[in-house]
Formats: sequence, C-alpha cells, structure tokens
Amino acid sequence: MVDDGSDSLRRGGVPKRRPPSQFARGATVTDPELRERFAREWPDCWAESAALLEWTEPYDEILEDDDAPFYRWFVGGRLNAAENCIDRHLEAGRKTQVALRWEGKRGERRTYTYHDLHREVSAVAAALCDLGVGEDDVVTCYLPKLPELPIAMLACARIGALHNVVFAGFAPDALVERMADTDSSALITCDGAFREGTAVDQKRKADAALADLEASIPTVVVDRLGSDHETRLGPDQYDYDALVERFDGADVPPVARAATDPLFHIHTSGTTGEPQRMTHATGGYLAGTAWTTRTVFDLSPGDTYWCTADLGWITGHSYVVYGPLARGATVVLAEGSLRYPDRHRPWELIERNGVEVFYTTPGVIRTFMKWGESFPAAHDRSSLRLLGTVGEPIGPDTWEWYYRHVGDERCPIVDTWWQTETGAVLLSTLPGLDEMKPGAAGPPLPGIEAQVVDSDGRELPPGEPGYLTLTKPWPSMLSPVEGDRYWVLAEYWQQFSDRRADTWRYFTGDRAVVDEDGYVTATGRADDVVTVGNRRLGTAELEAAITAVDGVTEAAAVAGSADGETDLYVFATAEQERTDRDALRGAIRDAVVERIGRFAEPAAVVFTPELPETHSGKTMYRVLEGVVDDERLEDTEPLRNPEIVGELETVWRSE
Ligand code: WT7
Repeated sequence: MVDDGSDSLRRGGVPKRRPPSQFARGATVTDPELRERFAREWPDCWAESAALLEWTEPYDEILEDDDAPFYRWFVGGRLNAAENCIDRHLEAGRKTQVALRWEGKRGERRTYTYHDLHREVSAVAAALCDLGVGEDDVVTCYLPKLPELPIAMLACARIGALHNVVFAGFAPDALVERMADTDSSALITCDGAFREGTAVDQKRKADAALADLEASIPTVVVDRLGSDHETRLGPDQYDYDALVERFDGADVPPVARAATDPLFHIHTSGTTGEPQRMTHATGGYLAGTAWTTRTVFDLSPGDTYWCTADLGWITGHSYVVYGPLARGATVVLAEGSLRYPDRHRPWELIERNGVEVFYTTPGVIRTFMKWGESFPAAHDRSSLRLLGTVGEPIGPDTWEWYYRHVGDERCPIVDTWWQTETGAVLLSTLPGLDEMKPGAAGPPLPGIEAQVVDSDGRELPPGEPGYLTLTKPWPSMLSPVEGDRYWVLAEYWQQFSDRRADTWRYFTGDRAVVDEDGYVTATGRADDVVTVGNRRLGTAELEAAITAVDGVTEAAAVAGSADGETDLYVFATAEQERTDRDALRGAIRDAVVERIGRFAEPAAVVFTPELPETHSGKTMYRVLEGVVDDERLEDTEPLRNPEIVGELETVWRSE
C-alpha cells in the first residue's frame, strides 16, 4: 500500500513545541495533574467552574442526568449573568476599570468603565421593562459591532429576558425567520452602518422584516449614522439615546434566574435548511465560558483582550461578552473591516490598546499572511501574551506564521475547537502546560472526553479518520427548550448513542483524527453544512435560495479554498433551453445576497450537466469539494454517475 499519510497522522505529523518559558512562568494554570484530577473527580470537578461565579443561591446538585441527554447543571442554584459580568466587579473595586473599549469604523473611540456599563445596562433594562418586556420574553438584537449590542444583551440578561442576536449582515428574510421562531417580543436595531465610508440602511431591512411579522412589536433604534442622516421612527419605534436618557439612573435589580433557565437563543444552520434555534442555560453556560476564559485564554481581571468575532455568532457571545466580562477583563471591540482605512488597523488596535490576548480565525490570519509581515512588524506588539484561533483547521504554515510574525515566538497559540452547541471551548492545549502541535487543536480540556469513531460508533485507533463524538456531558452544553428536544435528539444524540444501555454520546457533526498523544485534529464537517468566513451555513438553506431562481433546476453549495481563502462555490444545473449562463449566474448571486446576505455571496457559480449523486440520490459533496480543492476522488464506487467527475473537472477548469 502507498503511504496515505496515516503514519504521520498517528504520530501527529508535525514537530511539537513547548510553551514559551516566559509565558509558562506566569501562567494562571500550572497544575500538571489538572486533567487527571478532573477525570478522577468528575463531575464534581466542575464545582471549580461554578466557583468563578457569584451565586444568589447555591446549587444543590452539580449534574442531574435523570432526563439524559437533556442534562441539567448546577440544579437548584440561582444567579444573574449580568450581575456576574458587571455588578460584582464594582464591589470588587473595579468601578473605574475599563470594561469596554470600542473603536468605530471612522476612527471614533468610546470607553466604558464597569461603572458606565452598569449605568447604561440598567437604563436599557428599565426601558425594556417599560416597553413590556418581562422575564422569559425574547428580544431580538439586530445590530452591528456597536457597544449598544453587548449592552442590549446584558440588559436582557439583567431582567431575565432572553436575547436572540441576529447577525446584522443577514437579509430581512433571515431576520423574519429568526424572530418568528423565537417568538420575539421586541427588537433592537440601528438606523444604518457605514460601509467603506458610505452609509447603508439597516433600518430599512429591519422594517421590511417587521412588516412580515404577524404582530407589531416595539422597536428600539440606535443612532449610528449621526445627525446628518435623518431616521423616521414609526409607531412603536423608539430612539435608543432618548430611552437611555429617560431611564438614566434607574435601579433595576438583577433577576435571580435558575441555573437551568435559558440565557439566550442563537441560530445555527442545520442540515434541514431551516435555521436551528439553539439555547444555552444561564448557570452552566456562564460557568463554562468563565472557566475556559481563565484556563484556555489565561485571562485575569484587568487584562486587555481582543477577539475579532462578530457578536452575531457564538464566539462573540462566549468570548467577547460573557467569558471576558465575567472574568473582569477589558474588552476591545472593533467595528468594521480590518483593512479599513488600511492594513495597519489590526496592529494599531493592538498597539494602542495594549492588547494582551488576541483571538481570531485561520481565515483572518491567512489574510494577514497575504498582506505580509511588514504590517505587524511596523508596530509594537510587546503587550501580546497569548494568541488564539478558532473556526476551522489552521494549517501548520499559517500556524507558524502566526507564531513567528504576530507572537514573536513568545506567545503560545491555543487552537480552540468548539461549536455553537458546545457553548465554550472543549478541545485545546492548556497554554502554560501542554506542548503545541501546529495544525492539531489539542487534547480535550480537563473534564471533557472525546472519541473519534467509525460509522458504527466504534472507537478508532490513532491515525484513522472518523467522526468526532463527546462521551460525557459538559456544563456549557446546549440546553434545548421544550419544543426543540425532538430534533436535538435526532441531530446530535441519536446517531452514536446506545439508548438501551442509557449511554449517551454527542455527535459533533465533524470529521476528525486523533494522534497517539490524544491530540485531535478536526478536519471538516461530515454533514451538509458549509463553513464560510467562520459562519456555518446549511447547504439546504443556500440551495433553496438558488433553485428558486427561474431556470435553475438543481444546486449544491460547497466551501473550498481554491485561492487560499475559504469561499463558497455553487454548482448548478440549468434547464436545457437556458443558454444565457451569465444572466443566470448573476441571478443566482443576487438570490443568495438577497435571501441570505452579502457575506454568503459565492466566489464562483459553475454549471454542470448533472450533480454527482449517490445511488440513493444524495448529492456527493465530497466530489465537489475535491474538484474545488483540486484533490482527485479515487473511490467513485458510491456514485451513481461516476462519469460526471471528469466532466466536472473540465467545467471547473474552464471557469
Ligand atoms: C464548527 C463550529 C465555535 C466558534 C466558531 C464556529 C469548526 C471550530 C475549530 C478548530 C477545526 C473547527 C468545526 C465545528 N471548528 N473550531 N479549532 N479546528 N475546526 O462556530 O458556527 O458553531 O461552527 O467549526 O467544524 O463543528 P460554529
């Protein structure tokens, strides 16, 4: 047999690197026995995460598994997430410490101390109450990266309402769907946003969505564009600043929520085409995010931290808002593009704010690489202490570049694997202790157990690629509301669990391989979901938008990295009489932009006479991925129409 690389996969392939000694000496977590201790004392070990929080009422039980796999954490406990992220820091003498440092697209800067944050969150909380929002109601937040977004989220948390953040780049259709299925009773949005200097209308999108909803709901509008742009407020629409002024100084006591009460909804894209409503519970989620913020990101109170994620995604929830603020850190929030006004912006942000911990994605790092090392080299980065990455596999070359040109070989890199569903990081090295392997996320964190299995759920030996599963529950895990239990069971728990033996195994939906040291490399999705720009999109949702175009019969969307960037590629079949391919291509692009959003615009639309299909008529995404990534699929046996592979390669090349 030829060398298929499995030998190097088993050994982990690339050389390991020890954590830089300067970092290791000052690291927060230094106990080399932490994993062993957590394994021995599981699930009691998780009391250590709960101990990072302030509880209104202590919990009785760490983990209740009577209703597995719907596990309940810290049962009997009560707490408020906003109180944990704000109030207790005031009492701990951090009133004048900066909580939030915002830098706008046009060079604006705003700073909020923990005291400021407390005051504005309380005012917004009072305003929401005045608009009729109560405990357990849902508030949709449709805002770009403005300070008002974390403030709105925390205001909801303060009164025990759930926030439902919808990425501001989504189109009205996507917003309507996400508002309707959370039964939202209020909306917080803004007048517009600046895109590379020009003002774009955000409120028009919100109004279009509101018009499609059955009932009218109160809407709060943040003024981002300033007085040059007039915004007309309709009935039941309120100016954010006017509300904050009116309720300034309000005393809104934080609502003590049960640990198992929901904190928020967020949508992820599933295999069904519908956006899927995910829910996280207050106690376990906050404990998990606070614990990983301390353990993985080494963040202590007062540290300055910058994560480039949008707040519309889980990374923004867990590692811009809840984790870092629960730790009492200073969070940098940068609106807009990293290349505007020029390519120095990220490094200026780090230098100006003295950023100690920086968290981004492989895609962003690849962009930095393309721009060249002269940009980071032109700035003082001596404040940096630790670097993180998330969202997709980071190749060893990208890892090395990040390590050398951003971290000057002084900063450990944590390659953190997790998902919307997991709430917090589950696989990562411990930065002061574990050796790093460029390209492999790392072993499961203390208290986490993962296994790579074959399609029958049997554990695979090191080096053999399979499916990534989790064999024990964890505090920040998905906590579905009543109506979601059925599909959650089907989507995540059915596949690999032995229900009769009552042993539950969570399926991540990822393909992965583990090496002999227990380091896991997640290699991509196993289901019909694409990850583009670190946004997970259901192929079914995309394809529905595409096949709605007149003249298009079938479509398949795949993520690929033909130009070193992860992009979306569409393969489509058209009605025979349609020869106007360029017009069709344009219509497909327009449909995706209109129905999903501009961020999902395909890099290329390729027409093919047929899509590659299995004998049971399922599109073989693997074949299309292979075409885009220029990797030949050897085993065409599962294909009904193997002859299409050669044809696909030809049409792809002629694009
Ligand atoms: C999917 C989750 C969790 C924040 C970002 C996206 C992929 C995530 C890694 C990593 C390789 C990774 C997985 C996962 N992924 N982190 N370190 N290495 N792949 O959240 O939208 O829920 O997507 O992102 O495929 O399942 P999400």
